[in-house]
Amino acid sequence: MSGVTDEILDHDYDGIQEYDNPLPRWWLYLLYGSILWAIGYLPYYHYGPGALPEEALETDMQAWYQLHPPVQLPDEAAMLAFAEQDGVMERGAATYKIRCLSCHAADGGGLVGPNLTDEFSIHGQRLEQMIQVVYHGVPAKGMLSWKTQLSLEEIKEVTVYVHSLRGTTPAKPKAPQGDPIVDGDTAEAAATGATVVAATGEAAPAPTGANPATGADAPSGVAMAPTGEADAPPEGESAAPVPAESAGG
Ligand code: HEC
Repeated sequence: MSGVTDEILDHDYDGIQEYDNPLPRWWLYLLYGSILWAIGYLPYYHYGPGALPEEALETDMQAWYQLHPPVQLPDEAAMLAFAEQDGVMERGAATYKIRCLSCHAADGGGLVGPNLTDEFSIHGQRLEQMIQVVYHGVPAKGMLSWKTQLSLEEIKEVTVYVHSLRGTTPAKPKAPQGDPIVDGDTAEAAATGATVVAATGEAAPAPTGANPATGADAPSGVAMAPTGEADAPPEGESAAPVPAESAGG
């Protein structure tokens, strides 16, 4: 410590005295160095072409996503075509027995996970909706994401299989969860896409309003009434078979 002297300064603060110890050189050089650095850094990074950490991160992430594009899960048409292929159902069933039955029961009746056979669904009953759930999971609700454990092919197969469970009769069905399925879809999803209702006349039971069986559980079914009504086909036949018809699908 070169600059240290034992010279006591000539003042006295309430009895406290002070040595005259200049700051060490290395410390001062650091200070001057940082000042010089800042003169270059500030204009270059804050006002010039330099990328601040957030921008740099953004650029890096974009580059990363370009190298690793997010998986595009198949849409409904692609899934329907896939479901036609030979052996898909069998392989899906095999995967189901290994991976899924612990939570959804061997026959899909539901345990920790919801009943996959009934006329209700939390996330939608279309294949393209179900594969999203199987692929990404619903971690907060206890449904695992299978994207790291199964190949995309296996995920597609098992999705086709669980989709096919609807309408079967499990030994111990778990109580319904989610929204009623309307025409292969949940009422909620149908409400956002009027075409689903319009395209297929037999989805008309909801607009008749009475909805005896499911009315209490189906607030979203009511919401879709206006869209359905506009395009509803001849009223006569749609009124009668309300609950029976949906079980038939
Ligand atoms: C650890 C338990 C667990 C396992 C294993 C599990 N699930 Fe699930 N699954 C759940 C839970 C819990 C939910 C409900 C998620 C929610 O409430 O959003 C769920 C929801 C689902 C849904 C959506 C149901 C709906 O009503 O929308 C599908 C489809 C599904 N699981 C398929 C599968 C398949 C296929 C497998 C095997 C590859 C599987 N699950 C394995 C717990 C599980």
